[in-house]
Amino acid sequence: MKKIFLNLGRQPLANSYLPNLSKKVINQEFFYNLKVSFNDKNYLVSVSNPVNPKLQYTSNYAHRASESFTMRTAFKKIARKLKKQFNPRIVLEIGSNDGVFIKNFDKKKVIAVEPCKNLANITKNRFQTYPSFWDTKLAKKIFKETKKADLIFSANTISHIPNLKETFRAINLSLSDRGVLVIEDPSLSSVIKNNSYDQFYDEHVYLFSALAISKIVEDFNLRLFHAENIETHGGSMRYYICKKNSFYKKTKNLIKIIKSEKKIKLHKFTTYKKFSIRVKKSKKDLIKIFKFLNKKGKKIISYGATYKSTTVFNYCNVNTKLLHYVTDTTLNKQGKYTPGMHIPIISPNKGMNESVDYAFLGAWNFKKEIFNKEKKLIKKGTKFITHVPWPKIISK
Ligand code: TMP
Repeated sequence: MKKIFLNLGRQPLANSYLPNLSKKVINQEFFYNLKVSFNDKNYLVSVSNPVNPKLQYTSNYAHRASESFTMRTAFKKIARKLKKQFNPRIVLEIGSNDGVFIKNFDKKKVIAVEPCKNLANITKNRFQTYPSFWDTKLAKKIFKETKKADLIFSANTISHIPNLKETFRAINLSLSDRGVLVIEDPSLSSVIKNNSYDQFYDEHVYLFSALAISKIVEDFNLRLFHAENIETHGGSMRYYICKKNSFYKKTKNLIKIIKSEKKIKLHKFTTYKKFSIRVKKSKKDLIKIFKFLNKKGKKIISYGATYKSTTVFNYCNVNTKLLHYVTDTTLNKQGKYTPGMHIPIISPNKGMNESVDYAFLGAWNFKKEIFNKEKKLIKKGTKFITHVPWPKIISK
């Protein structure tokens, strides 16, 4: 049975940056109530009322995985590792974004699936790209004449698709007998440990754990045989899944991870009730910091127009009374306004300078990269505010 444990209130689409603040644009902004539930049958944590993906994955989709050095490096590394480990004849990527992963493979071997047309257009000339949503109809079309995939890769995508049944049914149809499905998504254990409630937004329909994934895939002739914790997106998990009758043996690392998830009680509702109490306190404490610094006349901005910060700003009601602007390196976010709170987004070249007293770490998952980039300003006195794992001011 599904039970709601967290209510993050009225939220806009995390990725829906406003081009201007005209009445027409503001009136058309889409909002929904963000509530999160736990299913005690399969241990799945999910947004209880998912938004229609057709409203989310449009040709205006802003996120470009290649923009970040951290992500470019991470995808290059995992592509190399998977190539060596599984020697795939055909590689399918579900949610290929701007090609950051597939560009590491021989173009004759790769099939890309990407529903956002603007992104699919980036890869279509070099790689066989399907500008479509992933489902059984598409899987049948792709593999009608092509050999099945020895490697299916999907990073930060499966957790975005409300219909898991259709997703895994299509994967089972597309995977060769020796094939491996590798998926990466933010991990539930990191969210619980870091109080990073901002991992919940419209696109993150699910926050997976090894406990949940192992149960879910069972119904689709698939089996989880390995998992590993990875650092990306503030703590993610990489899952390795094969056909039920495949030769892969359950690894020691998977057994260890399942054990650690049970230790922090990811299979119990009480864990989530306690988490929601911590989230309420986190909101109070963050607002306190912003208001205190604002009263002292400090200039506060936000660093990184992330989807995660959409949840924080709308849940905590952080608006232009508290923040001057948000800086972001992504060209197509600059000049726009944040969803819901309508804070202007500008380039860091214009906005990240000595006039800034405090910068909220919207992109807290890139803290290392950011602190490295901004070490001169930090030396001169600019400080950062984070809410992870708990609201505080930091300078290292
Ligand atoms: P993500 O957490 O959803 O990947 O988004 C990170 C956002 O932060 C993305 O829009 C780029 C932005 N960003 C900066 O503006 N400066 C930086 O130094 C880094 C690492 C990210």
